[in-house]
Parts: sequence; C-alpha cells; structure tokens
Amino acid sequence: MAAADLIESLHLVEPTSYSTRGYPHEEWATLRKSAPVERFEPEGWPPFWAITRHADIVEISKSPQSFLNRDGINFEPVDTILRDDAQVQMRTIIEMDNPDHRKYRGVASRFFTPRSLGKWDPMIEALAVKLVDSLGEEGEADWVQDVASLHPLSIICRILGAPEEDEPFVLKTTNEIFGRDDPEFQRPGMTAQESVMAAAMDFGGYFHKILEDRRKTPREDLVSLFANARVDGEPMNEVDTMGYCLVMFIAGHETTRGGLTGGMQALLDHPDQLAKWKSDPDGYTKSGVEEILRYVTPVNTMARTVADDIEIGGRQMKAGDRLIMYYASANRDEDVFEAPDEFRIDRNPNPHLAFGIGEHFCLGAHLARKSQQALFREFVSRVEFLEQTGEAERTASNLVPGIKRLPIRYRLRPHVG
Ligand code: HEM
Repeated sequence: MAAADLIESLHLVEPTSYSTRGYPHEEWATLRKSAPVERFEPEGWPPFWAITRHADIVEISKSPQSFLNRDGINFEPVDTILRDDAQVQMRTIIEMDNPDHRKYRGVASRFFTPRSLGKWDPMIEALAVKLVDSLGEEGEADWVQDVASLHPLSIICRILGAPEEDEPFVLKTTNEIFGRDDPEFQRPGMTAQESVMAAAMDFGGYFHKILEDRRKTPREDLVSLFANARVDGEPMNEVDTMGYCLVMFIAGHETTRGGLTGGMQALLDHPDQLAKWKSDPDGYTKSGVEEILRYVTPVNTMARTVADDIEIGGRQMKAGDRLIMYYASANRDEDVFEAPDEFRIDRNPNPHLAFGIGEHFCLGAHLARKSQQALFREFVSRVEFLEQTGEAERTASNLVPGIKRLPIRYRLRPHVG
C-alpha cells in the first residue's frame, strides 16, 4: 500500500481535527519518509499537494514566480470558498505577487527592521512586566486570556497608533472578524456573516478617523506611514491602506499569541527545560524562544498556486494546482534537526521555518521575537512554582491552530528592575 493511502487526509486539513487531535505529527513523519510531495483529495476540500520536507518548502518559497499567493494562502473547504466569493475581498500584501508585492511590502519594510524597532523596546518590556505583575504573587489564571492575548494586541495597537483606552474595542472587533465561526464572538441576533460585516465596518470607521488625523499631523507610528504612503508615485488608495492596518492584526495577533501559549504548554510539559531556563534567564531567552517557535510552529501552513507546470520532489504539478506547505512538519524534519521531537531550549543551530522563508518571509518576525523574548524572560525569571490545572483547548484551524485556553496555577517573585 502506498504511504499516502495510510494517511487519513482529513487530519491534514480539517480544522476540528487540529482542535481535537492536535498537529498530525505522526502522519507528517510518514509522509516525509515516503511521500514528501503527495497529492490528496479529501471529501469536501479542493485537491491539494502536501509538502512536508524542509528542503522542498525552502525551494517553493524561494520561487515566487512559480508558486503564487494571489489565490490566497488559506486552505479552505469548498463551501467556505463559495461563500467567500460572494464578498468583496480586501487585498493585503500576503495575497500579492510581484511586481505589486515588492512595492507594497516596501511601504512598511523599513519600519520592521531590528534597528528601527529598537525604539519600541521599552514599551514592549514595560508591557511584559505589567502583565506578569497583573497575575499577582500567586494564584490561578488562564494564561491565554489573561496574558498571552493581551501582549501582542497591545503592542500592535501601540505601534499602529491606536490609543491605549481603545484596546478593548480593538480586541472585541478583531475577535468578531477573525473568530467569525465561533458563536462566542458573534453579535447577538446576527448571522455569522452579518456579524463579521458589522465588525469590519466598525473597524474600518475607527481606523479611517485615525488615518485622517495622521494625514494632517503625522507621528512616528505605522498609521502615519500608511496614511502618507505612495506606491508608483501615487497615494495608496483607501482599500489598500485599510488592508495594511488589518493585516497587522491578522498576521500579528493570533500568531504571536500562539507562540506564547504553545511555549507555555511546552514549558509545563518539560519542567527540566523550565528549570534550565530559570537558571539563566538572560542566557537562554533567545535560543529558548527560537526553540518554542520551532517546536510549536504557531503558523502551520501556507498555501500556494502553481503558476506553470513544474516538477517538485520528483512529482509533476500542473498550472493551477494548489499546494500546502506544512511548516510544522518541516520543523521536525529529521534531515535537518537532531532529535526533532525533543524540546531543547539550547538547540543550536535551529534553522526553523516558523516565519517562512524567501519573498514573503514574515514582515513582523523581529517584532514577534522581541515580544516573546520580553514576556518569557519576565515570566521565567520570576516563576517559583508552576502547574497546569486543566485541559488546554485548541482553536479549530489548520492555519493557526493555537491554544485558546490554558489554566495554570503559579507563584511568582516580584519584578527586579
Ligand atoms: C510568532 C509570531 C508570528 C509567526 C509564527 C508568523 C509567521 C508568518 C509566516 C509563516 C508568514 C508567511 C511567510 C511565507 O509565506 O514565507 C508570515 C507573513 C507575514 N507576517 Fe508573520 N508571523 C508572526 C508574527 C507577525 C507579526 C507580529 C506581524 C506584524 C505585526 C506579522 C506580519 C506579517 C506579514 C505582514 C506577513 C506577510 C509578508 C509578505 O507577504 O511579504 N507577523 N508570518
């Protein structure tokens, strides 16, 4: 029997499979070994090629002319695709190909270099201290709702230029937009579709006002950059400008939260690694966060469309075929990582693909690293006792299948500053 026949293909794509079974690491290991580029046709889903090896993902990501983003990077069931076709789609840089991609990425790329992000370090570190302080000396908390959701959201609001007092509004509307299939986030008396449209209108109206203000009086924030950006010598239009504001939340919030929650789960599951990190918080924070990114891989997949007939890994793909790159599989590739299933906070080298690679490499990678380093350094250096008090719950998604509830009990030392 062919290796691919042994795999339940729905485990690779079905969102609820990720929330109930977790990442399909066993299936990926089988595929990497015997069918690293394999075509699947799960019921209710479009056919797709599953790419599971590190080397093939690098090759595809570095050939943006052959593997396109314009048909979307999400891989969705057939009924969702039909439903979404009826809506006006907002284009963001992650759905662009060249030449547009380079032009639009250029609008924000300088803002996200380590050098220019340096000025936000005090804010990122102060927020980490404030959030860990908010837990008190000892007690119980949901790490996700009480800490991990709030740090990335506050950071994105601050760098964009949304005032602190508006954060609850931004959190509510972004949850309504992105959690549209979760009844918890739907507006009362509305269908999922109506609720998401209403939330998108509120989000648009809110940022429209800030954009107007920054056109008159620019500041050092991202909204000022977007409001006054020019592409091909022309001011960026309103839809693209709004798309840029929105993509910061789409790309930056749940992903970073996924690193913070998955990282906490990894530390709860590996007390020896937590003890090691505690023994030298400054020394292990960088490599510890890189290992979390590899081991957890908060962004599991990116889809692409084949531009022209092409061969990859000895398999012939046709123009128009869809493929899914599984970063979480690449990050456990035994050809690249020693003992890939082990969580080692001092792993070196660690050439993980958690932020992708090539043309669309994560624009916010330095920011995401900074925020995770700040929060884990603060927490690990203060924690005296830590345990999990209940089951973790995962989000139903094949793209960012993060943990949405993680109950913990802890005792903390005061901050030493
Ligand atoms: C742990 C947190 C994060 C992870 C794991 C992550 C991961 C990724 C991945 C895998 C990609 C696609 C790369 C590719 O196709 O090669 C991506 C793209 C992107 N990310 Fe992130 N990301 C994170 C945080 C952020 C943050 C904080 C921001 C900004 C505030 C951000 C902004 C973006 C943008 C704008 C893109 C599209 C880049 C392009 O198409 O050129 N990300 N990210």
